[in-house]
Amino acid sequence: MSYETILVETRGAVTLITLNRPKALNALNTQVLADLTQAFAAFEADPAQRCAVLTGSGEKAFAAGADIKEMADKPAADFFLEDFFAGWTSDLVKKVRKPWIAAVNGFALGGGCELAMMADFIIAADTAKFGQPEIKLGVAPGMGGSQRLTRAVGKSKAMEMCLTGRMMDAAEAERSGLVTRVVPLADLLEDALKTAETIASMPTMAAMINKEMINAAYETTLDQGLLHERRLFQILTATEDKVEGMNAFVDKRAAQWKGR
Ligand code: CAA
Repeated sequence: MSYETILVETRGAVTLITLNRPKALNALNTQVLADLTQAFAAFEADPAQRCAVLTGSGEKAFAAGADIKEMADKPAADFFLEDFFAGWTSDLVKKVRKPWIAAVNGFALGGGCELAMMADFIIAADTAKFGQPEIKLGVAPGMGGSQRLTRAVGKSKAMEMCLTGRMMDAAEAERSGLVTRVVPLADLLEDALKTAETIASMPTMAAMINKEMINAAYETTLDQGLLHERRLFQILTATEDKVEGMNAFVDKRAAQWKGR
């Protein structure tokens, strides 16, 4: 399948998706959303694919935000009537049950930062810069930044970043818990793909359920989350991979996963 604005390739059980509008610093327009939605749906539907990596083409940007040129002359009523950004904030993330990683290779601003935060976790290049500079355009985050950034780095830092529009460098992003680790730009893709391969080598249902459990922590009370976790754990005990994984441990041999 070919796409207008992204590149998609498979490497074993890992799908690599690259935002590919380098001249516009990979700005996110309606076509990018359509392409990403289709690519993630194909990833989700293919049982041979078990983890994905999303990155940006070029060395400068992961994505410098929603496409300002697409929004500049759009009438306000159209934003409302089209429910602009709805596809980004709900459909794209919630329909992907398999794990995926954002490999942030430069600017991740506005919608770019928001898209990275939709990933299950972020690995950042030492050149990465994160920010929600929408205020400088007279607006505010629209793809989840006010919610996900606040949950990731806390109210004080999220508030300061959104109110001043300042960028956070990779070191600060790691200190603040926004990214899992920082690696040199030259090593970013290799590191992200290797991590994705490790995840892809795990039993599929256990990976999907670990993801679901952790995401539930954002959306519920502690009591409900603990119950949800316990029930999902109990469901996993019904899988062939649970029997194999525990027997392999007892027999002191490597597990042979079946993915079910
Ligand atoms: N939308 C459309 N085009 C963009 C863009 C964006 N978000 N960001 C960069 N570009 C384009 C520029 O217009 C420029 O195109 P031309 O060569 O045709 O002029 C090209 O990418 C290169 O950009 P610059 O010349 O500006 O590069 P720079 O190195 O001088 O600056 C930058 C880099 C600091 C990232 C700067 O491009 C910038 O500030 N970009 C906008 C960042 C921003 O405001 N993002 C938020 C967008 S709104 C949003 O995302 C809403 C939401 O919540 C979803």
